[in-house]
Amino acid sequence: MAKTILIAYGSRYGCTEEVSKEIGKALEKEGLNVSLVNLELSKNVPDIKNFDGVLVGSGIKIGKWTKETDNFLKKNKDSLKSKILGLYTCSGLAMEDADKAKKTYIEDKMEKLGIDAQLFDVFPGKSILSDFDLSNPKIGFIERKIIEQAAKAQAKDNKPIIIDEKWKDDPKGSRAIRTFASKFAELVGSK
Ligand SMILES: Cc1cc2nc3c(=O)[nH]c(=O)nc-3n(C[C@H](O)[C@H](O)[C@H](O)COP(=O)(O)O)c2cc1C
Repeated sequence: MAKTILIAYGSRYGCTEEVSKEIGKALEKEGLNVSLVNLELSKNVPDIKNFDGVLVGSGIKIGKWTKETDNFLKKNKDSLKSKILGLYTCSGLAMEDADKAKKTYIEDKMEKLGIDAQLFDVFPGKSILSDFDLSNPKIGFIERKIIEQAAKAQAKDNKPIIIDEKWKDDPKGSRAIRTFASKFAELVGSK
């Protein structure tokens, strides 16, 4: 029987949602049975005991995971110990210094929560004005101002976005996302 994977994610501006869907597609191609759950929208999060592997992903805002992903990890901390666990984040920092983003947003988090993922990675988040859907009513007044100010400052200084070597030929991280998914499938044992 096909192994089962839960992908539970939180996304404020859409990057982690896109990444999660890509991971899901790649895992299905590997023959795994995937349930994709947006933790912010879903009232009934499936019980993790029904899954062989669990992936949890979040976008980063002011250094934080989304409230729902945070709560999910805290609530399931003990039961996750017997699962194959993967973690991932989308952030601005990942584009500029992927190692620092890994340390700050994933390794420190694992230490703080006392969890241990077998696989984790960081992906480049939405970072320039045209990346954001400002018509999204969930983007509040203050956030909108922060995004617009950051974009203005960037344009004024003509400051190029520094791109980490890791993303030079893969700016959207698509290849890295597929590699991440395939490593996870290997860990769960899809074949
Ligand atoms: C208000 C705001 C705060 C942010 N704070 C951070 C931050 O602290 N660290 C970081 O690396 N990126 C930060 N970012 C960039 C986001 O991580 C990036 O936009 C990412 O796409 C968010 O994930 P999501 O699209 O799934 O919500 C911030 C973006 C905004 C708009």
